[in-house]
Amino acid sequence: MRILGIQGSPCLKGNTAALLDAALRGASESGADVERLDLVKLDINPCMACHQCDSGNSCRRHKDDMGVIYKRIREVDAIVLASPIYFMGVTAQTKAMIDRCQCFWIEKYVDKIRFYDGKRRPRGLFVSCAGSPKQVVFEPAIHVVKAFFAAIDYQYSGQVLLGFTDDEALPVRKRSALQEAEVAGKHLCH
Ligand SMILES: Cc1cc2nc3c(=O)[nH]c(=O)nc-3n(C[C@H](O)[C@H](O)[C@H](O)COP(=O)(O)O)c2cc1C
Repeated sequence: MRILGIQGSPCLKGNTAALLDAALRGASESGADVERLDLVKLDINPCMACHQCDSGNSCRRHKDDMGVIYKRIREVDAIVLASPIYFMGVTAQTKAMIDRCQCFWIEKYVDKIRFYDGKRRPRGLFVSCAGSPKQVVFEPAIHVVKAFFAAIDYQYSGQVLLGFTDDEALPVRKRSALQEAEVAGKHLCH
C-alpha cells in the first residue's frame, strides 16, 4: 500500500504537520509505504481558468510541480490531506493545489471517465487544526476537501480535527487527536 500525505501548512513542524505525521506513522506501522509532500516547498501556481484542461487530462498552462501531485494521485492507495484552518477555510497553498485538480473534475464529470472502474477506489482522509475551540470552524473546509476527493474519484474516509490549538496550556503533541490520527492512518490500510 502506498499512502501520500499532502501537508498544506506553511509551518513544517506545526500542529497540522504533527497530526499528519501521526496518521502516516499509523499507516507505516500497518505496513504502508508513506510519503509526505509539503506544499510550501513546491512551486504550485493558482489556476488561471484558461480552460485548456477542458480537453485533456492535466493542466497545460503551468509548468510547475503539480506534475508530481497528478502522478501520485493516480499511483497511491490513499491520501491524507492536512491543512490548518485559515479564515474558515484551507490554506492558500492547499487551495491552489485543489483548484489545479480541475482536470480530474473534467475527466470525471464531463468526459465521464471513471479511472477506478472495477478497481478499488483510493481513500482520502482529512486532518486539520484550528485555533478556535468551536467545531463549526472546520465545516467550510470539510466541504472543500470532500469536493476535492470526489473530483479525483477517491472515497472520503473521514476527518481528524483538532481545535483550540493556540492555547499554550494544551500542546498538540500531548492531545488525544494524535492517537486518533494514528488510528485513522492504520484504518487506511485495511
Ligand atoms: C492567517 C491565519 C488565519 C487563521 N484563521 C483561523 C480561523 O479562521 N479560525 C481558527 O479557528 N483559527 C485560525 N487560525 C489559527 C490556525 O488555524 C491555528 O493556529 C493552527 O493550529 C495552525 O496550524 P499549524 O501549526 O499547522 O500551522 C489562523 C491562523 C492564521 C496564521
